[in-house]
Amino acid sequence: MATNRTFTMLKPDAVEKGHIGAILEKISASGFRIVAMKLTQMTKNDAETFYAIHNQRPFFGELVEYMTRGPIVAAILEKDNAVEDFRTLIGATNPADAAEGTIRKLFAASISENAVHGSDSDENAAIEGAFHFSGREMF
Ligand code: RTP
Ligand code: MG
Repeated sequence: MATNRTFTMLKPDAVEKGHIGAILEKISASGFRIVAMKLTQMTKNDAETFYAIHNQRPFFGELVEYMTRGPIVAAILEKDNAVEDFRTLIGATNPADAAEGTIRKLFAASISENAVHGSDSDENAAIEGAFHFSGREMF
């Protein structure tokens, strides 16, 4: 296991419901170090670019609408085995299928509004981190 990085967003529903502090507490308690973090809002173009892999899926319009409707917390996180361990911590895409104690089980309302994003590979973690942060914002 190499020390490496993943990228996350606390999505608009999590921010609207006041869950920033509780989710960051779980992330820190699980051993992730915050490398970069900010409150920001995605434009339509940002969300269409970020989630371009899904642009042929039936839920794409709804996904872009959701991800742009309010601020998000974007962050880069560091830990041994970061990508895989963070996906374990957040749980399944659909909170109904997410394991007990996972962030989505605790804070997500539905498969569409599921509170948090986690990168799915080291390559995408680097691309997604660079999408939101310049080198001087990473520590
Ligand atoms: P994410 O990329 O946000 O970490 O989520 P994920 O890997 O667990 O799931 P993914 O398949 O990449 O889907 C991206 C996001 O699209 C929304 N979604 N809605 N209505 C639906 O059937 C549906 N399926 C996916 C969710 O917000 C999901 O996280
Ligand atoms: Mg995904």
